[in-house]
Amino acid sequence: MTARPDRTARTRVPIHRELADRWSPRAFDADATVSAVEVTALLEAARWSATWGQRQPVRFVVGLRGDATFGALAVTLKRGNSYAHAAGLLILVCADEGDDEKTALYAAVDAGAAIANLTVEAVSRGLVAHPMAGFDGDAAREAFAVPAGVRPVAIVAVGLLGDYATAEPKVVERDSQPRERLPLEQIAFAGTWGSPIVL
Ligand SMILES: Cc1cc2nc3c(=O)[nH]c(=O)nc-3n(C[C@H](O)[C@H](O)[C@H](O)COP(=O)(O)O)c2cc1C
Repeated sequence: MTARPDRTARTRVPIHRELADRWSPRAFDADATVSAVEVTALLEAARWSATWGQRQPVRFVVGLRGDATFGALAVTLKRGNSYAHAAGLLILVCADEGDDEKTALYAAVDAGAAIANLTVEAVSRGLVAHPMAGFDGDAAREAFAVPAGVRPVAIVAVGLLGDYATAEPKVVERDSQPRERLPLEQIAFAGTWGSPIVL
């Protein structure tokens, strides 16, 4: 049984189901595992995201709950992200920033695209995914000997949704807040900046 409300995105017209159903939960099933096929699918989805100039600057460090990599990733998480210790999988996403500001900028864009792709693949497989910037990047760099010029960007927790009936009250409270986004009128313009596109 779950105590959480519906988390589905409210959209003006229907969108792809996996996109509408994606959200960032903090309750993971600590008994559930992510299979090798699922991990492979997530990485393939990330690998095939768009990449500026074919640079392919995104790298992944992958830990399955119980293994040494997972343990080393988990200890880099900020305290507020300790919910992710129950995830089945932690993926450190890194971006090779290249030689200049432009390569660094689009390496970060590519990393975001890879995270989005793997997240939607996770949702399509009945899993949940939660991206986290709240981790110690220097500690991750040291733990995995991440080369200079490659930036640890985020850790993504993936797993099976946990039971909100037994989740920590803090988690239940945070994940019961309504999911909100700015309306399209405030973010999509035509003609001039700030003038909402009329659809
Ligand atoms: C780059 C990035 C970093 C994030 N870092 C964290 C984090 O450290 N901890 C956390 O709990 N959520 C983190 N989130 C998740 C956001 O809080 C979440 O996406 C936002 O509240 C919207 O909720 P939704 O994903 O359920 O739509 C991060 C999301 C992104 C895109």
